[in-house]
Amino acid sequence: MSEKKLKIAVIGAGIIGCTSAVVLIESIPNVDLTIISEKFTPNTTGDGSGGLIYPYLPGSTDSKRIKKWINDTMAYLKQHFQSSDSGKLGIGLLSMYYLLEDREVFNYSDFDNVMISQRPMTSSELKQFSSPQKQWTKGVYVTTYYAECRKLLPYLLQQFKSKGGKVCQQRVDSVRQLIGKYDIVINCPGVEAGKCTADQSVHPIRGQVYRVSAPWIKHCVMAGNHYIIPNSDTVVLGGTKQLNNWNTNVDPIDSKDIMDGCSQLIPSVRTAQIVDEWVGLRPGRHEVRLEREVISDGQSHQLQVIHNYGHGGSGVTLSYGCAQEVLDYVQQIIASNNVKSRL
Ligand SMILES: Cc1cc2nc3c(=O)[nH]c(=O)nc-3n(C[C@H](O)[C@H](O)[C@H](O)COP(=O)(O)OP(=O)(O)OC[C@H]3O[C@@H](n4cnc5c(N)ncnc54)[C@H](O)[C@@H]3O)c2cc1C
Ligand SMILES: *[C@@H]1O[C@H](CO)[C@@H](O)[C@H](O)[C@H]1NC(C)=O
Ligand SMILES: *[C@@H]1O[C@H](CO)[C@@H](O)[C@H](O)[C@H]1NC(C)=O
Ligand SMILES: *[C@@H]1O[C@H](CO)[C@@H](O)[C@H](O)[C@H]1NC(C)=O
Repeated sequence: MSEKKLKIAVIGAGIIGCTSAVVLIESIPNVDLTIISEKFTPNTTGDGSGGLIYPYLPGSTDSKRIKKWINDTMAYLKQHFQSSDSGKLGIGLLSMYYLLEDREVFNYSDFDNVMISQRPMTSSELKQFSSPQKQWTKGVYVTTYYAECRKLLPYLLQQFKSKGGKVCQQRVDSVRQLIGKYDIVINCPGVEAGKCTADQSVHPIRGQVYRVSAPWIKHCVMAGNHYIIPNSDTVVLGGTKQLNNWNTNVDPIDSKDIMDGCSQLIPSVRTAQIVDEWVGLRPGRHEVRLEREVISDGQSHQLQVIHNYGHGGSGVTLSYGCAQEVLDYVQQIIASNNVKSRL
């Protein structure tokens, strides 16, 4: 076996690409790893997200896979929560009231053993959020984590670089361009997956949010379209989930709907100082695409591709678990000696 290093590229420096890159560089010996991305933190989708660790709009992905990925993410966050750096990393415990419509079919019991704790809300808890206009009758109280990407992503990139990882700010027009240049490509382009691969099933789910200063709010509240998610020093108020809408400008009609909806849950959000208003495009897909593919230039070169995109409103939640599965695939490729061109 020659001494040549295994060459891997990760497309995308969002939370999905960065967790994949860090897990690989920590686990694969003798690897030459590069993140190629057009945007970096603080300009990725996760940077504006609520960072709540709980399933939200994950399509119809097999619930066993979702459960395993979240479980792995929880274990990773626990490790960081217990370190003296958790404040700096934007990771903390979060108590959440998840209100459900009577007809809502979400089976939260699936996550009973995955969350830190979870139980049905009591009637007095439900009354905290009910008003003459809206009576809530069903909900679940959850203890989980938040992971604030604006703080976590710089840390992940620094970890990656300190272990010899390289970053390159560049757009990749097509994954095919990388055939012959790398042994393995981890494809994590988020909502733009349709452009660099031939997958037309990825679509935006537009999310608009406010970030406000409201240090008196200590609990997360989720209620249909509206949610309130405390982070380490701001609170996220959302939101919208508009399918196939690519507009990244703030829409004043949405702003009003968010403020009206959130203030029905906790009226004092109206008095909070607004820090930021932002729109992000969740990478929607009928299911998360996490799988292997081999592409070829029709001649002598082959490229092993591991796709990791389409996480909808749960990208932060699924990130570390998906990165672990990427590692499994890379180890399979190495074990089957499928990268013969270089090994
Ligand atoms: C308002 C809102 C709230 C949210 N709240 C939560 C939440 O509370 N919890 C949760 O788990 N999730 C939440 N999400 C979802 C979460 O933010 C996304 O699922 C996640 O950020 C997707 O990560 P990603 O790395 O796949 O994509 P992105 O962050 O979009 O990263 C993709 C990267 O790939 C790069 N790229 C794309 N195409 C190319 C190319 N051709 N060449 C080079 N580079 C390319 C981009 O520049 C970018 O760096 C929220 C989303 C929104 C919009
Ligand atoms: C983020 O975007 C802003 C505005 O386009 C730009 O000025 C800044 O350089 C970007 N940051 C990074 C790290 O790419
Ligand atoms: C969740 O992770 C724990 C270890 O952190 C493990 O013991 C358990 O089997 C896992 N459960 C699932 C459903 O993956
Ligand atoms: C909900 O999930 C739990 C745990 O996974 C399972 O035991 C139960 O049968 C499910 N209920 C429904 C209605 O699907």
